[in-house]
Amino acid sequence: MPPTESDEVGPGGVGGRPPSEKTDTTPDAPAPKGEGVSTEKGAPTEKGKTAAPLPKGDAPGIRFEKVVKRFGHNVVLRELDFTVAPGERVTLIGPSGSGKTTILRLLMTLEKLDEGLIWIGDETLWHMERGGKRVPANQKHLHEMRKQVGMVFQQFNLFPNMNVLRNLTEGPVRVLGVSKDEAVERARDLLDLVGLGDKIDAHPSQLSGGQQQRVAIARALAMQPRVLLLDEVTSALDPELVVGVQDLLRDIARQSDLTLLCVTHEMTFAKDISDRVLMFDGGQIVEEGPPDRIFGEPSEQRTRDFLQAVLAS
Ligand SMILES: Nc1ncnc2c1ncn2[C@@H]1O[C@H](COP(=O)(O)OP(=O)(O)OP(=O)(O)O)[C@@H](O)[C@H]1O
Ligand SMILES: [Mg+2]
Repeated sequence: MPPTESDEVGPGGVGGRPPSEKTDTTPDAPAPKGEGVSTEKGAPTEKGKTAAPLPKGDAPGIRFEKVVKRFGHNVVLRELDFTVAPGERVTLIGPSGSGKTTILRLLMTLEKLDEGLIWIGDETLWHMERGGKRVPANQKHLHEMRKQVGMVFQQFNLFPNMNVLRNLTEGPVRVLGVSKDEAVERARDLLDLVGLGDKIDAHPSQLSGGQQQRVAIARALAMQPRVLLLDEVTSALDPELVVGVQDLLRDIARQSDLTLLCVTHEMTFAKDISDRVLMFDGGQIVEEGPPDRIFGEPSEQRTRDFLQAVLAS
């Protein structure tokens, strides 16, 4: 059975089922100290002062090789090929329903792959080697592979029944096997990083949308991912909260060595955060290039039409 929406997080949190099926993030490499990411007000913290464990070094690349994904008769991804280099930051744009979220959910193992291969570094996510043959991955392989990947969702998906601290410590303790003390220390550092050190005891319902999304970002980072997936992370926010969250993510992206795959319609944010933009439609890449070219001089009519529609909305 493919994992479902409820596996991402949500009511019940990581408590009720095996941790491997619950949290939306994870990884394994030790994380060095972060340096000076913007706070809530956008002011950089003193360089080297924050101990926030921003992931650095050895981020794996991603490769989709002839990936097919169907929902019933609806073929959403058609032999999709694309590559993201280690540490590269790529934004995915394209019309609604074109499969952008599906790509991220496949990487999170929240959707099941139908055909093709997805590589994270030099290992396949959905397959493993057995006796010199490539066979479907077992739960252990999936669990180990997805530890490398973290995701921030449009709707935050915090555990509503847990306070902020537990939202940040539950995954590291239950999934990564980090000690409670270490998880708490990291959680405090990460909350300082996202400008919410004073909200450690609050429950998600007591926070604004922008604050909830900051907690969700901190929670994703608490799992020390090597690959970070961002799915329209500011589209559910009130307009005045958008820039602060975007600034935070831009700084995190610049100051970590994460491989980043970001879905957004916000062109300024996409320009800020990405090395490359992929325009995606009909289950395939229509064109790709540096953000300035894709947004400034797209070569495909399909891209021009899409960008015009975004600007008009
Ligand atoms: N769990 C599901 N069951 C059935 N169909 C699905 C499921 N998830 C996605 N789809 C279908 O797959 C297609 C791609 O959906 P997806 O959410 O990936 O699009 P998207 O590009 O992220 O769109 P948007 O910009 O609106 O978020 C759509 O036709 C959608 O209806
Ligand atoms: Mg989507």
